[in-house]
Amino acid sequence: WTIHVPSDTTARALGSDRLVSGIQVLAREAGVELHVRRNGTRGLYWLEPLIEVDTPNGRYGFGPVNDSDLDSLFASEFWKGEVDHPLALGLVEELPYLKRQQRLTFARLGRIDPLSLDDYRAHAGFRGLEKALTLAPQAIVDAVKESGLRGRGGAAFPTGIKWQTVLGASADQKYIVCNADEGDSGTFADRLVMECDPYMLIEGMTIAGLAVGATQGYIYLRSEYPQAFRTLNSAIERACEAGLLGANILGSGSDFHLEVRLGAGAYICGEETALLESLEGKRGMVRAKPPLPALVGLFGRPTVVNNVLSLAAVPFILDQGAAAYAEYGMGRSRGTLPFQLAGNVKQGGLVELAFGPSLRELMFEFGGGTRNGRALRAVQVGGPLGAYLPESQWDTALDYEAFAKVGAVLGHGGVVMFDDTVDMGEQARFSMEFCVAESCGKCTPCRIGSTRGVEVIDRIRAGEQVEANLELLSDLCDTMLNGSLCAMGGMTPFPVQSAMKHFGEDFVKNASAAE
Ligand code: NAI
Ligand code: SF4
Repeated sequence: WTIHVPSDTTARALGSDRLVSGIQVLAREAGVELHVRRNGTRGLYWLEPLIEVDTPNGRYGFGPVNDSDLDSLFASEFWKGEVDHPLALGLVEELPYLKRQQRLTFARLGRIDPLSLDDYRAHAGFRGLEKALTLAPQAIVDAVKESGLRGRGGAAFPTGIKWQTVLGASADQKYIVCNADEGDSGTFADRLVMECDPYMLIEGMTIAGLAVGATQGYIYLRSEYPQAFRTLNSAIERACEAGLLGANILGSGSDFHLEVRLGAGAYICGEETALLESLEGKRGMVRAKPPLPALVGLFGRPTVVNNVLSLAAVPFILDQGAAAYAEYGMGRSRGTLPFQLAGNVKQGGLVELAFGPSLRELMFEFGGGTRNGRALRAVQVGGPLGAYLPESQWDTALDYEAFAKVGAVLGHGGVVMFDDTVDMGEQARFSMEFCVAESCGKCTPCRIGSTRGVEVIDRIRAGEQVEANLELLSDLCDTMLNGSLCAMGGMTPFPVQSAMKHFGEDFVKNASAAE
């Protein structure tokens, strides 16, 4: 019998490694032959550690499993699958949380051994690359354009147009840089790709290299992801040995080399030009644009800088065709976005959905509301620079344009939920404080403005000259929004202004007391 136990960072933090040892000891004692396989996670974090067993009908799940559950699981002979046990979940793929998703990019998540090339191939792996090797560069770029894929890092710029710019540039060397500096609060989708399905990223980057004529790629990885670092390096080594990466890929005569570089923990290095500076060995300071990295990027050469999720979407597009991807979504938001439910949520995890459903559906039908059962009050979408949405906006469709219309962003798909005990004045202060800590310091509105922002919010919260200070804060937000060089200073006002607009009562709690 085969037992699948997840091996990603979250499942391990929840004790999955200990479970493996426990299962092996008990199996020996019981005299049953159990083969333990380490799969990636399914991304259903509320059920982790979620262990699965193979049955003729599919995989049966049990979760969340603690060490103390192992005795009763063995007593029920759980390896047979359909048994009577309080943690039995039935067929994993029939769980509504999973079944109702549209997993295009994450179709393999949790189903394969992350480093097994055989598993990857058996689940449609490398088919996109094989297709790309038969196409001219322009045809690959056209496929990505027709798919409607837009940058999944947050800015939603059309990926195919970015690739076209790099393809059209002439240079002795071009680069593909993967932005894996996943720094947004509540996000983990990039990590899941790298820890649980690393060949998908390697395949996507190789296709990008073929498309634009780049022979060298770098994955810029945040230092807080040590397991992803190890997994990616092992995957690159195995792919090279198998002739899928490096010189003469699959005998085609095309080359693509790939290396992983670790960041040092600065949020601003997720901004593409600061990332390039850091990759070049310099301090992560933002460069003015133009010139665009697509024309003058890494070491001054034309460079595709794409987020992990954008590159990970490419193998599907090449394999299944642009139309198959574009079929999903609404308006100009085509395909799917892997949403990441976090914060005070009952059923946190990865929810890959075609654009279109409402934020409310995502938070309640998938997330199940708050974890502690209190009323949900605010939700921040798109990371620490995203707006806070009050209940009146929860029916907004999950779509780039619909979010822009209400002054919010979808960003990288991070959704952080807060219950009715949240102090939104404190949250606004945190946004400014975050900017103080993470600003690269190049421009004044962000470097100085954020420090002044903290001070002004403190004065408002202390009840000092509230009206005048609220006006000052509003002016300061305007200046940061319009005068900052990059999104760090330029978007910090989003959470602050949305908190003031929708939760203004939290700012003035002490107004009458002090005045
Ligand atoms: P941007 O709108 O300036 O650019 C988007 C991308 O398109 C860039 O790669 C840019 O170089 C490229 N581009 C623009 N015009 C082009 C052209 N004509 N040809 C080729 N390429 C072109 O946005 P930016 O500053 O890169 O990113 C801001 C976004 O980042 C925000 O919207 C935010 O949601 C997101 N963000 C994501 C974070 C994360 O952890 N994933 C963290 C912080 C912000
Ligand atoms: Fe640096 Fe902030 Fe200016 Fe961006 S907005 S360039 S992070 S100082």
